[in-house]
Amino acid sequence: MNIIINAADAMAGDGGTLTIKTNMKDGMAEVSFTDSGCGMPKEHLSKLFAPFFTTKETGKGTGLGLAISYGIIQSHNGEIDVESEVGKGSTFRIRLPIEKQNGGLGKSGEEGKG
Ligand SMILES: Nc1ncnc2c1ncn2[C@@H]1O[C@H](COP(=O)(O)OP(=O)(O)OP(=O)(O)O)[C@@H](O)[C@H]1O
Ligand SMILES: [Mg+2]
Repeated sequence: MNIIINAADAMAGDGGTLTIKTNMKDGMAEVSFTDSGCGMPKEHLSKLFAPFFTTKETGKGTGLGLAISYGIIQSHNGEIDVESEVGKGSTFRIRLPIEKQNGGLGKSGEEGKG
């Protein structure tokens, strides 16, 4: 949800296109989100997942969205990467393992059982 809302925010000016693709590769489920929005300069890419990094005006963004997204993906033993170009848009790519780890449920599955 956060990645989609970020994409919408990045395209708020003139509108644009969000393309969501799914794929299965090397035992990983891959989902990519490509927007045709404002994009980001290189110096922002290294800060994106840090808590409270935001370029949105006060009251519009807390800067927690991607930090929380990163934590969720990590807890599922997944990974996320970003490519972006100012004025062209951005792609966020998430990979999550689809096979059972150590013959059982992943961390989140165990927690869910209480
Ligand atoms: N698709 C995108 N296009 C351009 N910039 C982006 C995109 N996604 C994230 N960003 C940049 O990364 C920053 C951090 O995103 P993040 O989701 O963590 O926080 P936020 O959207 O600012 O606030 P919150 O999600 O907490 O409401 C954004 O403020 C924006 O500068
Ligand atoms: Mg956000």
